[in-house]
Amino acid sequence: MEQTKLYIQEGKSRFLEELVELLKIPSISADPNYENEVIDAAKWVADSLNKAGLDKVQLMKTEGFPVVYAEKIISDKLPTVLVYGHYDVQPADPIELWDSPPFEPVIKNDKIYARGAADDKGQVFMHVKALEAMIASDELPCNVKLLIEGEEEIGSENLESFVKENKSLLDNDVILISDTHMIANDTPSITAGLKGLSYLEVEVTGPNRDLHSGTYGGAVANPINVLCEMIASLKDENNHVSIPDFYKDVLSVSAEERAEINRAPFDVNEFRKSLDIDQEDGEKGYTTTERTGIRPTLDVNGIWGGYIGEGAKTVLPSKAYAKISMRLVPNQSSEKITELFTNHFISIAPKGVKVKVTPHHGGEPDLTDIKSIGYMAASAAMEKTFGRKPIPVKQGGSIPIVALFKKELESEAVLMGFGLNSDAIHSPNEHYGLFNFYKGIETIPYFFEYFTEKS
Ligand code: BES
Ligand code: MN
Ligand code: MN
Repeated sequence: MEQTKLYIQEGKSRFLEELVELLKIPSISADPNYENEVIDAAKWVADSLNKAGLDKVQLMKTEGFPVVYAEKIISDKLPTVLVYGHYDVQPADPIELWDSPPFEPVIKNDKIYARGAADDKGQVFMHVKALEAMIASDELPCNVKLLIEGEEEIGSENLESFVKENKSLLDNDVILISDTHMIANDTPSITAGLKGLSYLEVEVTGPNRDLHSGTYGGAVANPINVLCEMIASLKDENNHVSIPDFYKDVLSVSAEERAEINRAPFDVNEFRKSLDIDQEDGEKGYTTTERTGIRPTLDVNGIWGGYIGEGAKTVLPSKAYAKISMRLVPNQSSEKITELFTNHFISIAPKGVKVKVTPHHGGEPDLTDIKSIGYMAASAAMEKTFGRKPIPVKQGGSIPIVALFKKELESEAVLMGFGLNSDAIHSPNEHYGLFNFYKGIETIPYFFEYFTEKS
């Protein structure tokens, strides 16, 4: 990888300039107003793969946004790495909390600020540049395929049928993904567990119209008050979710494994300080690392109803709404949990209101085998470039397609991400460290080398 290393060294500033161009495209998959921009980002990524020397670069149709596909096949005797990532981003709201516009990238304090900088454009682009360097240096040691999608942030719903219909095209020996974070720049880690997800919207209807809160207040059920009580009842005083059978399928984790999980460095004071909170919170009997890594959770993501404009309007609203997410761990099933939630939520509705539950997207949890060739190759690659062996960690985020890949393509995914949890993904002022961007580009070629050697 000597030539590759030199190529990367010489290309550094150009790589960053190119990333700036990608970050300027507001590819917000959730917002129909940005449909053209999402497609522009797909084209931009395809173009960058062409320039990097990949073959068969194409935009492939799905029911939703296109998948960018590319490959470089050297020999059918060599293993094939499938690189997965996403070119879509989360909405930038609340815009007013950004220090600089979300789609006008700014480099400040050795970080690049823009929506998608870390999640996931910056991390996808590390692969494009690492491949460019290996191809230009004639040092690509095995076959590579890329699948970069445009609907990850909205649940990858159309990717399922795409994967099922293109099994032979996507055939591979390992899936490599950079869409997660590490413990710290001097404490590399590899994500060995991701959570699953059930996401629902609930609607509580009281009277058939908004009412005068004096004339009717105290005499009919107020759907906002009712919704708050219903939500509050979903957890007990120990922050244990009270939906019957919620924990039934949760994989029990041995005392040894729990001890191992808690050996990962975690500084509670730093955690509090970084979030400006005086106390962390969660399920009783578990540490923060366990709460985020191995325990299922339930959170309200949004709640609204009644009058929320300027000033005061005395109104007893007809309706109240909330969006609720549950993060799941092995062996919970998203479909089952969605059903348990729905039945329970309807059953606790008091007389005087009607309740409707609408499921949104979901996904299954995933665990990586840390003895697999893929994991070990990633571990060796990070050890080479960081000078420290990475720690396997379980994270609370979800990448629904990972479990599906495993099922449909029968191969292991390796989550070698280079972000930090302080990157503010999905938040205002999202950023990605230049250290992380370059470290990723440097590390990826070693993954290819070690995976080929070990296979
Ligand atoms: N890259 C994240 C997932 C992630 C973040 C994994 C941090 C591990 C650590 C991904 O883009 C994401 O945001 N996923 C969504 C999934 C959802 C939209 C189906 C999530 O986790 O909320
Ligand atoms: Mn992501
Ligand atoms: Mn995301």
